[in-house]
Amino acid sequence: MDGLQALVDDIRREIATQTERGRVADYIPQLAAVDPGHFGIAITTVDGQEYVAGEADTAFSIQSVSKVFTLTLALGMVGDRLWNRVGREPSGTPFNSIVQLEREQGKPRNPFINAGAIAVADVLLAGHQPKEAIGEIVQFVRFLAGDDTIVIDDKVAHSETETGFRNVALAQFMRSFGKLDHPAEHVLGVYFHHCALAMTCRQLSRAGLFLAAGGRSPATGGTVVSPGRARRINALMLTCGHYDGSGDFAYRVGLPGKSGVGGGILVVAPGKASITVWSPGLNENGNSLLGSLALEMLAQRTGWSIF
Ligand code: DON
Repeated sequence: MDGLQALVDDIRREIATQTERGRVADYIPQLAAVDPGHFGIAITTVDGQEYVAGEADTAFSIQSVSKVFTLTLALGMVGDRLWNRVGREPSGTPFNSIVQLEREQGKPRNPFINAGAIAVADVLLAGHQPKEAIGEIVQFVRFLAGDDTIVIDDKVAHSETETGFRNVALAQFMRSFGKLDHPAEHVLGVYFHHCALAMTCRQLSRAGLFLAAGGRSPATGGTVVSPGRARRINALMLTCGHYDGSGDFAYRVGLPGKSGVGGGILVVAPGKASITVWSPGLNENGNSLLGSLALEMLAQRTGWSIF
């Protein structure tokens, strides 16, 4: 559909005129060095067409977008028992907040806040060494994207390992409630590495397409998850994927989405397409400022809002 190519081209042009680009994440030293001027967008439709504009083939740090893939893997391993370890409610707090954890005895509100993703990483470690669990995650993402070139950016993983004191605190705090089965260092090793996956907009859109296609991978025809599970992952992305900015994102865009502090956002238009945008400058909630604007434009022009 030529209309979608014109759309991504228009969005890229409109974004280029914006002067307020937000602030890059500076609490991870490797991310602080990224130029906020980058912008990329990719749409992959369920019938396999791709429409890209800007820097859609430049790899960036996917950060918390990876939590969609670790959640999918953990659900595959333990099914609904996962919900004994982590909740399904929006937190209304920042992604790295610790306050609810004490009141809720170390059980994180949802799998997308940092504490929740750390709990999910603990589940993925069952029966594995950290290196093996990390390997499984990389293999899964490569399989979903149909691309064996996807790797972890070791510099970013190392940078966060050195400075991720807040996550160390979250993990140790959860362990103090008996909510982690493995040593915090092992769990965080898995967590920091999956956050450091480097992917392009095109790769990320391909990897997320199963969520738009009722759990099937249109590229291989294979089933990744059941339709019901895809629907539920999408529900969590809608309600929790942008942390304390999830309500605003649902209001403006109306599609399930997962953001990362690298400035990427993966969005699912059920039955239609998966979309990835990348603009490194963030808003006050740690979500891509211009990425959100680009998606708002896309939702308006396509009418793909689920509402
Ligand atoms: O743990 C962290 O703080 C980062 N590795 C990921 C945070 C993140 O991407 C939040 N998203 N907007």
